[in-house]
Amino acid sequence: MKRHSSLPLALSAVVLLGCMQSAPAEPTVAMRGRIAFLRCAACHSLGAGEPHKVGPNLRGAIGGSAAQTVGYNYTPALRQAGLRWDDATLKHWIRNPAALVPGTSMAYSNALSETEIEALLVYLKSETQSR
Ligand code: HEC
Repeated sequence: MKRHSSLPLALSAVVLLGCMQSAPAEPTVAMRGRIAFLRCAACHSLGAGEPHKVGPNLRGAIGGSAAQTVGYNYTPALRQAGLRWDDATLKHWIRNPAALVPGTSMAYSNALSETEIEALLVYLKSETQSR
């Protein structure tokens, strides 16, 4: 009996340690970026081979030319805008898509702070370029 009683305690210690490691007090930039992306995730996937949603899968887009992803029906407005998704253009877009590309179908009103946008860009780049 006595031998068994310490097992649950040992298990909870392991679980507790695991939690402590995965939840640092200060959220990292990558974590803040991941949280900011929740605003985009309803309409955008990021992973290789993941299907488009209302908006295109962003994997090939970040850092590249706009409206190039195969299998997504972009608006003529975005196709003809001739944009390249560098940092400055992405920030402009995230703040107000319709101001950058009048006639775009990306209906999104910015609720992100500049710090959140910076973190979001770090996250987008690491997610779309690392794997
Ligand atoms: C309500 C749905 C919706 C939300 C939310 C949304 N988007 Fe979009 N997004 C779209 C649509 C639709 C398009 C295609 C626009 C077009 O064809 O004019 C698009 C296009 C884009 C493109 C251009 C992709 C390419 O291949 O050129 C980028 C980059 C982008 N979105 C980033 C974001 C980011 C970052 C967020 C979050 C801050 C976000 N979007 C939130 C719907 C959305």
